[in-house]
Amino acid sequence: MRLGWIGIGRMGYEMSARLAKGGADVTVWNRTRAKAEPLAALGAKVAADITELAACDVVFVMVSTWKDVEAVVSAMLGGQAPAKPKLLVECSSISLEGSAQLRATLRERGIDLLAAPVSGNAKVIKAGKLSFVCSGPRAAYDAALPFLRMIAPAASYVGEGELARIVKICHNVFLGVVTQSLAEITVLAQKAGVPRHAFLAFMNDSVMGSTFSRYKTPAFVNLDFKVTFTPELLRKDLDLGLDAARRFDVPMPLASITRDVVQTMMGRGMVDQDFAQLLVLQAQASGIALSPENVPVDDGLAPA
Ligand SMILES: NC(=O)c1ccc[n+]([C@@H]2O[C@H](COP(=O)([O-])OP(=O)(O)OC[C@H]3O[C@@H](n4cnc5c(N)ncnc54)[C@H](OP(=O)(O)O)[C@@H]3O)[C@@H](O)[C@H]2O)c1
Repeated sequence: MRLGWIGIGRMGYEMSARLAKGGADVTVWNRTRAKAEPLAALGAKVAADITELAACDVVFVMVSTWKDVEAVVSAMLGGQAPAKPKLLVECSSISLEGSAQLRATLRERGIDLLAAPVSGNAKVIKAGKLSFVCSGPRAAYDAALPFLRMIAPAASYVGEGELARIVKICHNVFLGVVTQSLAEITVLAQKAGVPRHAFLAFMNDSVMGSTFSRYKTPAFVNLDFKVTFTPELLRKDLDLGLDAARRFDVPMPLASITRDVVQTMMGRGMVDQDFAQLLVLQAQASGIALSPENVPVDDGLAPA
C-alpha cells in the first residue's frame, strides 16, 4: 500500500512520523515544505507537488479548516494524471456539512471517504495515546484500521456518513468548557491562598481528575504556554458546536459563554500561544498577576 499524507502541521507531523517509523511507504506533502523535510530522515518521501499524492492508494489529510481541506483535495485531484487514491482518510476537525460535501465530491470520482478526526495533541500522539473516531463505509474503516493502529492505540467506528464529525465537535466543546472551568477554579483557589500546584495535585487525584487535567497541569502551574492547540482552532470548534446546536435545536449556554471567553482572549492579543492561556485571562479578570511556580509536575504523558 502506498500512503500519502497532506498537512504536516503540529498534528500531521507526529501522526505521519508514526507511519514512517512503523515502516509504512508514506509520501508527505505540506504547503510549507520545510516542515515536512525532517520526515525524510524517518523514511518518508517528501513530495514536491501535491498532485504526486493522487498516485497513492490511501491519502490522509490533516489541515486546519473545511476550506483548507477543500483546497488541498481539489489541488491533489486537479493534475493531469488519471491516478486517484481508493480511499481518503480525513482527520481535520471540520463540520458535518463540509464532510458531507467532501464525500459527495469524492464519490463522483470513485473515492471512498473515511471521516477520522482525533482526540489528543501532538504530545499525546508521541505518548502513544491518541484516539480516532471514525465514520463512513465499514469497509473503508476496515481497510484503514491497520494504519490507524500504527498512529494511535484507539480507534472507534461510530457508523455511516459524517457521525464522527459530531462526536469530535462535541468532544472539543467539552475541551473548551472544561478548560475554562479549570481556569476559573484554579484562580479562585489561588486567590484564596492555595498554590496552583497543590490545588491541581489534589484535583488530579480526585474523582474529577482526568488525563486532560493532568496534561494541562504543567501549563497551569509553570505558565508554559508553548502552543499545542491555538485559540483560533478552539474558537473554530466551539463555533462548529454552536452551529450544530442551532441546527438540532439544542441550547448550549456553557458553550456559548466559553466561545465568547475564547474570543475575548483572542481580542486581547493572546493568539500565538496555547489556549491554556484562558488561565491568564481569568487571572486578569480576577485582578491578580500570575507567576510561574517553578514546581516540577508530571503531565502523565511519558512515551509508551
Ligand atoms: N493541535 C491539537 O491539539 C489538535 C487536536 C485534535 C485535532 N486538531 C485538529 O487538527 C487539525 C490540524 O491542527 P494542528 O494543530 O496540526 O494545526 P497546525 O499546526 O496549524 O497545522 C495546520 C496544517 O494545515 C496546513 N494548511 C492549512 N491551511 C492550508 C491550505 N489552505 N492549504 C494547504 N495546507 C494548509 C498547514 O500548512 P502550513 O504548514 O503550510 O501552514 C499545516 O500543515 C485542525 O483541524 C485541528 O482543529 C488539533
